[in-house]
This record gives sequence, C-alpha cells and structure tokens, in this order.
Amino acid sequence: MSDVAPSVIVELEHGVAVLTVNRPAALNALNSTVLLELEQAIAALAADPALRVLIVTGAGSKSFIAGADIVEMSGYTPQAARRFATLGHRVLAALEALPVPVIAAVNGFCLGGGCELALACDLIYAADNARFGQPEVNLGLMPGFGGTQRLARRIGAARAAELIYTARQVKAEEARTIGLALEVYPNAELLQKVRELAAGIASKGPVAVRAAKLAIARGLDAPLSVGNALEVEAFANLFDSADAREGMIAFVEKRTAQFRNA
Ligand code: HXC
Repeated sequence: MSDVAPSVIVELEHGVAVLTVNRPAALNALNSTVLLELEQAIAALAADPALRVLIVTGAGSKSFIAGADIVEMSGYTPQAARRFATLGHRVLAALEALPVPVIAAVNGFCLGGGCELALACDLIYAADNARFGQPEVNLGLMPGFGGTQRLARRIGAARAAELIYTARQVKAEEARTIGLALEVYPNAELLQKVRELAAGIASKGPVAVRAAKLAIARGLDAPLSVGNALEVEAFANLFDSADAREGMIAFVEKRTAQFRNA
C-alpha cells in the first residue's frame, strides 16, 4: 500500500486499484487540498501500465463523499468559486478520461460534489445505506462539478432536473431503479463485491476493454452515425493486437486466454 497523499489513499493489487478519499471527520468532503491530491493520484494511476480497473470509495462506513467542502466555499468570492469549480471539473475530467474502467463503490452519503464524482465513473455500485443527491439548492447553490451535465446524461434530463430542483436524497434501491446505481449490496459486502467484479474485468483482454471504453465515451459525445463509424474503426484495429489473436486462438484450442496487454 502506498500513501499518495494524506487524504487520498491508493492501493494497487493484481491490476485493480482502490482509491479511497480519506477525510472521514468531514464525511470525505472535497476541499481544494483533497481535489489537488486526487488530481495527483489520478495522474499517477494514468501513468501506471499495471492498472486494469480503478475502484473509488470513501473512508469509513458512513459516507462516500458528502459533497464539496461547504466551510471552504462559504468564504468564496465569485472568482474563487470559478477557480474551485474549474479545479473540480479538471479532476473529474481526468478521472473520467482514465483509459481503464472506473467503478464508484458508494458506501454512504454521495451528495453534491460526491455524486458528481461518482457520475464521472463508468459504473456505480451502492451500499444499502447509500444516499444520492444534488442538495446544492439547499445552500443557495447549484451543482458545479458537472452534475447538471453528467446526471442528465446518466438518468435523463427530467429526473436529473427533479433531483437538482428539489435537493431530494435518493436511497440506494431507488438509485438502482432510476439507473444511477447498477446494484445494491449490504454495506459490509460492497467493497468485496466490487473487487470481484473488477477482478473479472481485469482478467479480460485489456486492449479490448480500453477500446470499448473509449468507443462508448466518444460515441456519447457524437451523433449515432459517427459513433457507429468509430466502433467499426476500433473493432478493426483490435485485429492488430496480439491479445485478440490469443483470445480467438484460445477459444479454438479450448483453453483460457493468456492476455499480455499488447
Ligand atoms: C464540509 C461537511 C460536509 C460538507 C459533512 N461535513 N458534509 N463539512 N462540507 N459537504 C462535516 C460536518 O460539518 C460535520 O463536521 C461532520 O462532517 C459530520 O457531519 P454531520 O452533519 O455531523 O453528520 P450527520 O448528522 O450524519 O449528517 C450527514 C449529512 C450532513 C446529511 C451528509 O453532514 C450534510 O447535510 N452535509 C452536507 C451535504 C451537502 O449539502 N453536500 C453538498 C455540498 S455543495 P463537524 O466538525 O461538525 O463534526 C457541493 C457543490 C459541488 O457539493 C460543486 C462545487 C463547485
């Protein structure tokens, strides 16, 4: 285990990294320091050739991330607020742009900037005590780390608008019903379940998994015809990879493929 920074802990084992936001006394709220440490940790992960899947979670059993730090924001001028929102966007964009699948293991409060961080992950799994929400209007604020954009894209504009306008907190089971969380597990089992899922993904052809992630992400930003053309290109390019040859030959030879990430 290596401490990348005091409020962000990263462990990497067998290709699966777990990044823990570690500020439990403030329910893992994101202040500028935590965001900068996150940025540093994400940059290190992006440069790590051993990384296959990233899991993001929060320290303690009560909270994933309870939002941006309200105490810090309470002293902001508009200029400081713009810098803070821009920093948050930069960090979440870097998280989203990691070439490997990123999974949020939501172990409690997932509010405001915390929900926005989860939305920058490919997959969201929830503990049974999870609470999702964009409660910024309670503070006279609005989402500022991408919530108006990514929540609308994830669950539809009308449901996103409802959650943002009302500040309503959504329990885990409802989060699953509306497509925010994929599955709900008992809190004590969440990380193990997500680790098992991540290990399964890590055992697949890594070049193919990365290509699929990129095709999904690029396609979502493009018209369907462009996305489909991107997919054809990405699919064809995989036939240049040793792993695709190995995967198909292993099937024919009735053995388990030995992928080499090449
Ligand atoms: C700073 C926070 C915090 C936050 C919790 N804490 N959330 N500090 N920023 N977002 C601190 C509390 O002040 C408290 O510190 C400690 O964590 C424990 O929290 P409690 O409130 O005592 O716990 P509990 O009663 O269980 O209530 C949990 C809670 C509540 C429902 C999650 O803490 C809460 O409503 N938090 C704020 C949630 C929120 O509004 N998030 C959105 C923020 S705006 P002390 O020192 O008293 O022990 C946002 C904008 C993003 O995220 C975009 C920015 C550009």
